[in-house]
Amino acid sequence: MISLNGFAKGQVFAIIGLNWGSEGKGSIAEYFASLMSMGVRSGSANAGHTIYYRGKKFVMRQLPTTWINPYATLVIGRGSVISFDVLQQEVQQAEAHLPIRDRLYIDSKAHVITSSQIQREAMSDLGARIGSTSARSHEGIGEAMADKVLRSADCVQAKDFPELQNLGVVCDTVDLINIALDGGQFVLLEGTQGFGLSIEHGEFPFVTSRDTTVTSLAASVGIATHDVKIHVIGVTRTYPIRVAGNSGPFADDCKELEWGELTRLAGANEPLTEATTVTHLPRRVATFSESEFLRACQVNRPTEIALTFADYLDYSLHNQEYPVSDQLEMFRMRIEYLAKTAPVTLIKTGPQVITDYDDYRRRMIEKVG
Ligand code: GTP
Ligand code: MG
Repeated sequence: MISLNGFAKGQVFAIIGLNWGSEGKGSIAEYFASLMSMGVRSGSANAGHTIYYRGKKFVMRQLPTTWINPYATLVIGRGSVISFDVLQQEVQQAEAHLPIRDRLYIDSKAHVITSSQIQREAMSDLGARIGSTSARSHEGIGEAMADKVLRSADCVQAKDFPELQNLGVVCDTVDLINIALDGGQFVLLEGTQGFGLSIEHGEFPFVTSRDTTVTSLAASVGIATHDVKIHVIGVTRTYPIRVAGNSGPFADDCKELEWGELTRLAGANEPLTEATTVTHLPRRVATFSESEFLRACQVNRPTEIALTFADYLDYSLHNQEYPVSDQLEMFRMRIEYLAKTAPVTLIKTGPQVITDYDDYRRRMIEKVG
């Protein structure tokens, strides 16, 4: 018999990138933050979530975006590989606005990147060979992950890195997260990078050093997916990107574009271009891939979709709060057809604009009905 016990517990809202990263997961996390009592981040500093707090831009590489909710507990989960300097800087920046250290919990078994790992990665060919952003900006993430797998003597865990105690409480965060869930709390799980970058599912070797699926993300911080209600908010762009350089192929059914071509397609009155959040190099852009999206949905089973970069379909929608256009409507229907049971609930038309499309649709139906 099916037990409903698990669903009486707290709920997880997981934000998952369905393309090759930079889907705008940060701004979706920003939207959810105020509803959550806990924000959990795993992964490492090779991802950068761009958010706006009171009109000021922040790029969160290590600290959960949920910090913008002053009542939320912040967790750097067990599967994290921490760049101490990055975390310290982000805590200091955020602290200029809200208290952080007394509500930040860092898992004692998370790994901390060492200077030897940074030096080794700086000498590696990862940047040239697969476009690794970590290798380009000398962060040592790949080396730290490799050392972890090899159980090398070079590894350092958070419990053995006393400086971390100045930034937050170093403890067993698996217990903390599960106690919160058993107590009925809402937990935001802030995924990084994208499905196409997964070491298991992406185009090897042009992948990141971890699996980026929702199941692996939940497991990496100690959440049992079969017994906890998980809302999977799949974030997709209209035109996916990959990082600069030799970063690997897009899918067979999409075409790589020049930024000038996309500017013309979108009818933009200013040149469209994007630079990588961490390395500031120009991103590569392509048309939407149905095959990649289908696979991302098959593996992650999103329960709802956040559609970002709607302004690239038709630039007259840029920064529009209630975007209406034929191109957007066609694209939204295509996404919902492909995603099967996951509706598009959020639409973005600019860095700081988000529309609750679900609510909008409901109100339209009420009006017509
Ligand atoms: P990663 O984990 O590094 O992949 O981060 P991310 O998914 O949070 O994305 P990131 O912040 O690196 O990149 C998204 C960029 O696009 C940021 O500069 C956002 O401010 C911007 N952005 C987000 N949504 C939109 C949108 O709908 N339209 C436009 N034009 N820009 C957007
Ligand atoms: Mg980013």
